[in-house]
Amino acid sequence: MAHEFCPGYPPPYDALVASYPGTDVYPAADFRVEWGPIFHRGRLDGSAVLLVVGQDPAAHESAARRILVGVAGQRAQGLLSKLGITRSYVMVNTFLYSVYGQAGGSRHDRDPAIAAYRHRWLDAIVAQNHIDAVITLGSLAADAFTAWAEFHGHHAQLLHPTYPESASAAGQVTLAAATKQLLDNWNAAIPDLVVALTHPDQAPHPTLYGNAFASGDLTAIPEADLPAGLPDWMRSQEAWASRTGTTADDKRATLTVVVPGDQRPWKP
Ligand code: URA
Repeated sequence: MAHEFCPGYPPPYDALVASYPGTDVYPAADFRVEWGPIFHRGRLDGSAVLLVVGQDPAAHESAARRILVGVAGQRAQGLLSKLGITRSYVMVNTFLYSVYGQAGGSRHDRDPAIAAYRHRWLDAIVAQNHIDAVITLGSLAADAFTAWAEFHGHHAQLLHPTYPESASAAGQVTLAAATKQLLDNWNAAIPDLVVALTHPDQAPHPTLYGNAFASGDLTAIPEADLPAGLPDWMRSQEAWASRTGTTADDKRATLTVVVPGDQRPWKP
């Protein structure tokens, strides 16, 4: 069976990836620059009707070299499925590199040089596509996108897909309560997004979320979104990448990728 794959960066994106900013723009104290920039996921062929702006790449993205591939990406992909958007989307992050440390993101989301490069991507995407709606995931993405101010269509400012984990880890709220907040927030945005997205890939099925993620609310990452030849399990809903190490230095330097237990073809 023929496999689909992400064909990479056609013009004008080729010039953007060729001129990505380095440590002079993204300080190594606040960004994991050692893992390289990770640019996008989705269509760069002019067919996108929805733009999703995320925050920054994490462990799974560092290995797969596309953004929003781990649990945040699968939650977002599930939302897109409800909207009937299965192919015609493009995603970029606020930051090219993973934020290191708690405050790194909010310290830099409006840095002029970081914003200038991000704006070149946003300019190109809006010029090359007919974007009907934009979804920003989390407040840094909403801020970054609003600062660009070149888009006058529908903008849904959503809580970030891993808001439940980050808010509950900060201790203000339980995981269950934060998950309900997230899903209420997404539910409230669905009707207007369905109206704004006048050319979905398939009929939307905008059934609302319950109080917790149900099986079926997450969608695996499409094969067409990842570089050629990546194994299926890198798109699956299993966690397969993590940062490991006993010191902060080792942990920053080490990415552990493990083939999930049920994806080992050498096992009977
Ligand atoms: N991974 C990304 O690429 N972006 C996010 O916002 C979260 C996880």
